[in-house]
Amino acid sequence: MSGQVLVDLGERSYRVEIAAGALRSLGARLACVIGADRRVFAVVDEGAEPHWKSVGMPALKSAGFDPVIQRVSGGETVKTWSSLSSLCEAILAAGMQRRDVVLAFGGGAVGDLTGMAASLVHRGMGFVQCPTTLLSMVDSSVGGKTAINTAHGKNMLGTFYQPHLVIADPDVLSSLPPRERACGWAEIIKIAAISDAALFGRLEEAGTLSQLSGGALEPIIEGAVVAKARIVTEDEHENGRRALLNFGHTFGHALETLARDKGDVLHGEAVAVGMCIAVRYAQMTGTCDATIEPRITRLLKSAGAPVAPLSLTMFSPGAGAMLAHMQRDKKNAGNSVTLILPRAIGTGDVHREAQADRLLSRLETILSSHHWPDP
Ligand code: GLY
Repeated sequence: MSGQVLVDLGERSYRVEIAAGALRSLGARLACVIGADRRVFAVVDEGAEPHWKSVGMPALKSAGFDPVIQRVSGGETVKTWSSLSSLCEAILAAGMQRRDVVLAFGGGAVGDLTGMAASLVHRGMGFVQCPTTLLSMVDSSVGGKTAINTAHGKNMLGTFYQPHLVIADPDVLSSLPPRERACGWAEIIKIAAISDAALFGRLEEAGTLSQLSGGALEPIIEGAVVAKARIVTEDEHENGRRALLNFGHTFGHALETLARDKGDVLHGEAVAVGMCIAVRYAQMTGTCDATIEPRITRLLKSAGAPVAPLSLTMFSPGAGAMLAHMQRDKKNAGNSVTLILPRAIGTGDVHREAQADRLLSRLETILSSHHWPDP
């Protein structure tokens, strides 16, 4: 059936079901894939409450489930030790057993937190993701990464724990704020730019990305999930190729962390600018030619995503401060900083930069360039 993407991981295989209206069958699909006799603990993103009330909850009830519900605020601030601890305790207090199901209904942060709790309670419970943002549909709900943040940085604690089912219903995206939508597009552009030239070409032909909706979105979401599933199948635990999916993230996480206290920067926005920096860095190292940067920038602009450091953070991020954060990135090995650099549209490499002074001076040059678009 079209709209179903298999993430083929042997006994941990699962399907990502992408279809307008798919959430209406949530209960029936859960009964079929997981079992009608399981209990459900639903973690509901406050931002997705209207969709939970109007579609998610009724779909579960009509299939005979009577979920225990825990509401959580969405966004990165929910990914803390204390939220994780409260959630695990609540799942245990509800008497959930290992065979029961923890269901994440919301955006990427709620999926990351809930997946981590599901992986820990009873050493691993049933887990289902219902992503309700574009970013979580195309990226964070697929591939089994779970995480919380710590004082040492973003996603510093986590597990690899694959869900048993993902249901992505593009109907819920009609109420998604434009900034959140742009964040999803940034991740789609990332996946295409670093791993799938054909998908990138389809994006270039799709018109103004920020204006796509309804049926036009479905095949693009599916294309991004197919591309991601291909990589996850090859390298579930990120020992190699999966690291490519971090394109834009090393620079992006540093900007996101620096901006955290000064304003609100969304993860996908930071990834968008991180990609723009990474592609300029790749040009300086000779990894790619000058034709790639305008193509990526054009798509990001068409999606309504930021394409310059200043338009993201509203202050000039210092190269030294960025480097300090990048040196703590979990992808690093030894003294080198790991960067994902594009080679051509649809392909790239993991680059280990061992010389901090060289990285710093390149970053200084990039950040002080006069060739950034105006904020
Ligand atoms: N978000 C990157 C990955 O799942 O590997």
